Amino acid sequence: MNIKEEIIRLKKELDVTIVAHFYQKDEVFEIGDIVGDSLELAKKSMKVNTKNIIFCGVSFMGESVKVLAPQKRVFMPRVACCAMAEMIDVGYFNENLKILNDAGIANDDILPITYINSSAAVKAAVGKMGGYVCTSSNAFKIIEKGLQSGKKIFFVPDRCLGQNFANQIGLKSAVIGIDKIEDVKESDIICYNGFCSVHQLFTPEDVDFYKEKYPDIIVAVHPECDVKVVQKADFVGSTSQLIKYITQDLSIEQKVVVGTEFNMVSRLREKNTYVLSSTKPECPTMNETTLEDVYKTLKSIENKTFENEIIVSDDVTKYAKIALEKMFEV
Ligand code: 13P
Ligand code: SF4
Repeated sequence: MNIKEEIIRLKKELDVTIVAHFYQKDEVFEIGDIVGDSLELAKKSMKVNTKNIIFCGVSFMGESVKVLAPQKRVFMPRVACCAMAEMIDVGYFNENLKILNDAGIANDDILPITYINSSAAVKAAVGKMGGYVCTSSNAFKIIEKGLQSGKKIFFVPDRCLGQNFANQIGLKSAVIGIDKIEDVKESDIICYNGFCSVHQLFTPEDVDFYKEKYPDIIVAVHPECDVKVVQKADFVGSTSQLIKYITQDLSIEQKVVVGTEFNMVSRLREKNTYVLSSTKPECPTMNETTLEDVYKTLKSIENKTFENEIIVSDDVTKYAKIALEKMFEV
């Protein structure tokens, strides 16, 4: 039996669902019982019938599933980090709140919203303040809902997502640590200074290059890209929105250049699809997980050594769940 057949046999025997994010390597993506973007995976994983979930992605994703479905045992073949999620912890979150407090903005006037790319502990800190979680597919709706509170939005950790959505709604945004504190005070959306190192690889010059080479090409990018790239793009969308737009809404003859992770872009279409970079924009940590790792995780469930199980404390689960469920309500 080869490793793939062994994985299929073991997952049935051990009551396991394998969940894989779109950015996973092809060999892992192909064995996923559930595949999708971060929002789809969180929603679908909650509803699986198996007792065990093997989550192939980065750690905040496995944690989100554990928070939403604490009765399940969640394992990750690699507890790989998301570079952006690692840029904030509860200490930094509180330090930034203090900067706002010192500038005369009280906590009662701040509504925090965290991108799902953050630890469960940061989500819990947001939940304790009555805030929301959002993903790139629903950030627009969540920010609009948050603004109804009349408070300033403190958006963490991705400054690009905060700035891009503020521009889309026509609101003022500023980044703590980059912009002047006067501008921060006047902003509707105050952004934490975090970013995705993979999506920062795409530049406005890359857009100009492709537009010059193929004048009719469409530029489609993820909202984690820099503001200057997003401003030049024809379409901006989350992972699922990009997939739908490129594979269903565009004709097969339409050339498109895509600004997001390489594994996902390479699976989109056989031709007329380009990557918006002269480099190979792979997410290094998403790429860590291999078939061998998935096999080892199944063996550890079989041997009852339960390696790489995701554990989230009760207190963190309670408040992180509040922030996640508020997102689902919207
Ligand atoms: P999605 O929410 O679109 O799945 O994106 C997750 C991510 O990490 C993008 O870099
Ligand atoms: Fe995190 Fe960026 Fe990788 Fe997405 S692509 S998981 S935001 S580091």
